[in-house]
Amino acid sequence: MWDYSEKVKDHFFHPRNAKIVEGANAVGDVGSIVCGDALRLMLKINPETEVIEDAGFQTFGCGSAIASSSALTEMIKGMKLEDALKITNKDIADYLDGLPPEKMHCSVMGREALDAAAANYRGESYESAHADSPLVCKCFGVDEAHIVRAIRENHLTTVQDVTNYTKAGGACGSCHEKIEEIIERTLREMANDEAASAEKDRSRTGEASEKAVPETPRELSAAERIKAEADAEIRALEEQMQRVREEAQAKIARAQEEARRRDEQLRAAKEEELRKAAEVSETADEGPVNENVPFYAEVVRVINDMKVALAQDGGSVELKKVTSEKVYVELSGSCVGCMMTDMTLSWIQQQIMEAVGHYVQVINTAAPAPLFPE
Ligand code: FES
Repeated sequence: MWDYSEKVKDHFFHPRNAKIVEGANAVGDVGSIVCGDALRLMLKINPETEVIEDAGFQTFGCGSAIASSSALTEMIKGMKLEDALKITNKDIADYLDGLPPEKMHCSVMGREALDAAAANYRGESYESAHADSPLVCKCFGVDEAHIVRAIRENHLTTVQDVTNYTKAGGACGSCHEKIEEIIERTLREMANDEAASAEKDRSRTGEASEKAVPETPRELSAAERIKAEADAEIRALEEQMQRVREEAQAKIARAQEEARRRDEQLRAAKEEELRKAAEVSETADEGPVNENVPFYAEVVRVINDMKVALAQDGGSVELKKVTSEKVYVELSGSCVGCMMTDMTLSWIQQQIMEAVGHYVQVINTAAPAPLFPE
């Protein structure tokens, strides 16, 4: 169970601006229903002043997605577009008094929707801005640029952090190695950027560059060396534990997906069973076999032939009723059973259709075999 702040709950239960904005001239669509979250942000921007006069959203997602979208619209209404674009996902989370780490991706989705709406307002394509960025996580369709931006803005250091903020890596786990590489490279670039800007500050204030007079590294004492080695081992163990945790999470996600698929199949099978049972119940009120149907004699002949054929395998079929479109039969013996019933019925149907020369539906009136025999 996630620990939500009161403000998140308030924006979830009473979302602000969950509406279609009349006359919106900036619309940003991000996320995908397939991936579980999707958001449409609509803005009405005054073209003269570029002030956001109205904002609204529609979202498909969890409570945090609704709360983040609601908060974002409240934050940006009345702001100039260029100021609104300075809002980060962290600002959205802060506005809500924080989001659970696993839900930070909802605030990122809000910030991306704002970028997409701004691109739409300027006649640009938000997607084309990412067109050159390689896809990293196929499960959630997350590209490298998204991941790098999340790392930089939120100082992310682990794959789990990246999953929390972008969803990348949250399913099959095959992209974890790539995400680790991106984290390492981005953190290195950030450290270099920081060093370069510190260097710039120093030279501006006239201080001697540290790089110009490199300090001779001091030899470590025995105790310091042991401590450094122990720290390195702890770090390695923590990383290993993190990997194990991530693999377990990926396995759980796969198992849940498998269970969901199985439930879906069972539900479809149950519906099919009910449909067949409903078809059968139709026959109860339809009276006796209709011998006036023009092809009745052909049907009787086919059924008699089938009886002989099925008896060889321990099965049997009885003709129950014939109408101008349907033939009702009752299968018994070895013909009954999930697979066998359908196969035998289609065989009988084929034989009857060949004999009468047109389409006829064949329905089994026997009670369907149980889905899961005892
Ligand atoms: S490819 Fe990223 S979780 Fe599957």
